[in-house]
Amino acid sequence: VPDTIAGRSIVLVGLMGAGKTSIGRRLAARLGLPFRDADQEIELAAGCTIPEVFARYGEQAFRDGERRVIRRLLAGDPMVIAYGGGAFMDPRTRETTRDEAVSIWLRCTLPTLVRRVAGRDNRPLLMGRDREDTLRQLMDVRYPIYAEADVIVDCGDEPPDHTTSTVMQAL
Ligand code: S3P
Repeated sequence: VPDTIAGRSIVLVGLMGAGKTSIGRRLAARLGLPFRDADQEIELAAGCTIPEVFARYGEQAFRDGERRVIRRLLAGDPMVIAYGGGAFMDPRTRETTRDEAVSIWLRCTLPTLVRRVAGRDNRPLLMGRDREDTLRQLMDVRYPIYAEADVIVDCGDEPPDHTTSTVMQAL
């Protein structure tokens, strides 16, 4: 584990389709740290899928749960955590993240994101919408905030192992 992160968790932020989960898993394996996916932790806690959480309880309840799950994860031993795409937009989550972890933004271009979210129906914010338009709007709102991450890694269309190496070098 590089000195720069010793004792802290690593958090991956970025839009849906950026590769937070696939890179997170690989990064954790290479660093010998546990991996957690915030969305999956929410599903475990809620006992249902993310689309079901949105449908049954609404987005605000999801966001509250997401903030609590992340606070709990960050309070534990160092690990690699993949955030959901909206998590870092919460000011309190950004503050806790700044205090407890090293954050990495996986910055991708719109065409890459559109390609990666194609054919999947597990994301309530994209359901029944034009995915490209929606992702473009989310980029406008979120990229200035994601830019507060400690490290920014530009991801092209390369395979996840390649991006993981880029992240390792950036740490
Ligand atoms: C969301 C992203 C999703 C999930 C939820 C909301 C968002 O996570 O948390 O559907 O607001 O961008 P992924 O980024 O892992 O798809």
